[in-house]
Amino acid sequence: MGAGIALICAQSALRVTQVDVKPEQLERAKNYHRKTMDRSVEKQRISRADADAALSRIHYASCMSDASGAEWAIEAATENLELKKQIFKQMQQAFPAPAVLATNTSSISITDIGAAVGADAGRVIGMHFFNPVPVMALVEVINGLATTAETTRRTIELATALGKTAVPANDRAGFVSNRVLMPMINEAFYAWMEGVAGPEQIDQIMKLGCNFPMGPLRLADFIGLDVCHDIMMVLHRELGNPKYFPCPLLRQLVLAGRLGDKSGRGVFEYPAK
Ligand code: CAA
Repeated sequence: MGAGIALICAQSALRVTQVDVKPEQLERAKNYHRKTMDRSVEKQRISRADADAALSRIHYASCMSDASGAEWAIEAATENLELKKQIFKQMQQAFPAPAVLATNTSSISITDIGAAVGADAGRVIGMHFFNPVPVMALVEVINGLATTAETTRRTIELATALGKTAVPANDRAGFVSNRVLMPMINEAFYAWMEGVAGPEQIDQIMKLGCNFPMGPLRLADFIGLDVCHDIMMVLHRELGNPKYFPCPLLRQLVLAGRLGDKSGRGVFEYPAK
């Protein structure tokens, strides 16, 4: 998602540095940026010159200090609280006030992440984008307990400048989007596991019957089965209700390394990937 966020920033005339500790992820991001811009040029949505100008605004780095002086930092690492806390401590050093320190977490408490940076928690906010970032219209904006009104105002301003609609949600596990979406996806795995229908039929029923662009199982592959599993674990832990425990079949697929699009196989197969 980091690659998508970097791209829409560059397209909105912002200079952006994409930071990743893994060089291969930066290479993937670069290819994604190039391919997405080429497609926009082919479709005559933008000129070649504008596409090249957007691409030239993106820099790639393995270290946060290469982006020092930035007014904004948006973290988009995996859904792991301890990892996010470590990253936020680094962000606190690399991007001093008044920089905003945002997290693209899909379920973890903003207050908890903010606690990692102590007195700087007022600069911490949730800025939850949706995949594919260039296509999806929403940014869910979540305040932690300490988030200042100025941080919220600037976040809504940035989301709007990026062409997104910012909608606020409170700092409860999964916020609104994943509190509603993930149990539905989890239930689709139960329906499959219990033989209510096969995965193709479950998806077809939800697509044709509820007008979803993707069925819930195809969407789970697209999001990543590991991500779906981790979000359910956060909901289960934080809300304390057994109904949020991940379906055994979802857990099994994750254990087997069937993570969805990114591993070439999840519920469905993606040989090209
Ligand atoms: N990056 C940029 N653009 C992309 C893209 C990507 N990764 N994937 C698709 N697009 C663009 C295509 O270029 C195309 O644009 P044009 O029509 O202008 O050329 C447009 O999206 C439609 O794409 P396709 O024709 O290839 O395919 P489609 O019509 O099946 O749409 C889709 C693909 C937009 C992904 C659509 O299936 C969809 O909306 N699916 C649901 C996505 C969704 O629910 N996302 C939220 C997931 S939850 C989440 O992200 C948050 C979380 O916390 C887990």
